[in-house]
Amino acid sequence: MSSAVLECKDVFKQYELRSGPLEVLKGVSFDLKENELLAIVGISGSGKTTLLNLLFGIDTMTKGQIEIDGNDVSNMSKDDFRLFRRDKIGMIFQEFYLLPSMTAIENVMAPLIISGKSEQLALTKAYRLLERVEMRPMANKYPHQLSNGQKQRVAIARAIANSPKILICDEPTRALDTTLGDEIMDLLEELIEKENISVIMTTHDPEVAARADRVLIFRSGILVEEKIVDKEFFDFRAAKEFYKDSEIAENETIAKPKTKKKASTKKSKKTSKKS
Ligand SMILES: Nc1ncnc2c1ncn2[C@@H]1O[C@H](COP(=O)(O)OP(=O)(O)OP(=O)(O)O)[C@@H](O)[C@H]1O
Ligand SMILES: [Mg+2]
Repeated sequence: MSSAVLECKDVFKQYELRSGPLEVLKGVSFDLKENELLAIVGISGSGKTTLLNLLFGIDTMTKGQIEIDGNDVSNMSKDDFRLFRRDKIGMIFQEFYLLPSMTAIENVMAPLIISGKSEQLALTKAYRLLERVEMRPMANKYPHQLSNGQKQRVAIARAIANSPKILICDEPTRALDTTLGDEIMDLLEELIEKENISVIMTTHDPEVAARADRVLIFRSGILVEEKIVDKEFFDFRAAKEFYKDSEIAENETIAKPKTKKKASTKKSKKTSKKS
């Protein structure tokens, strides 16, 4: 693991509500390294999706700086950012957001066509991408004809269509059972290894978080702790207890941000699943 492909520096996000301002992110700083799988955990409402939306340019921050692949995107216009994002970032969501009136292959072709590829080229590449996620036989199925796991695979194929450097995943396994969730995590790990992608994902599942290289713990819009996951010795029972504690601690005094560093272990393909 080496240089950072994404850097957040002192990022704030405030929503102006009728009842007054709501500060959702309160000075968040971290980086995402090349070929890293970074997980963000924290209870509901702690600002995880808000942060991902800022990174993907769906929303704008109030203050701070975001650098992606060496480019400061903080002050980019919406249009410039849209173009920039098309080549650099893919995003997947727990609800998949496939276009219901398009088949799997058409969903994957869409970003390729939008980025100026000819229909023939887009079709060829989309087939390759569906093969990559083991969905080629389902190319002509509509989203409603696919299982949730299959939908997420198609969504991943679509997200990586323009060969992004970064894949942003908002609870990618939430709508899936454990086995399908594991398969999606296998796929993400494979993409990191073979397609040179870095992944930042949110999750509520400690077992999913345990597959990350690093876990950032958010509480009330603050990054309170960073854990480097030692996969070979990861204890799921302890992780569950830890995560439970961190959820309970949300209602208690917010700890001062601290960084726990441990030597990173080599990425192992799989960790033991059952606790
Ligand atoms: N567009 C918005 N306008 C006003 N408030 C918002 C908006 N989007 C999010 N919020 C508020 O910001 C806070 C953080 O929301 P966010 O969706 O980022 O949480 P989260 O950590 O992703 O939660 P979950 O785990 O449930 O997905 C919440 O209090 C939410 O109500
Ligand atoms: Mg969320």
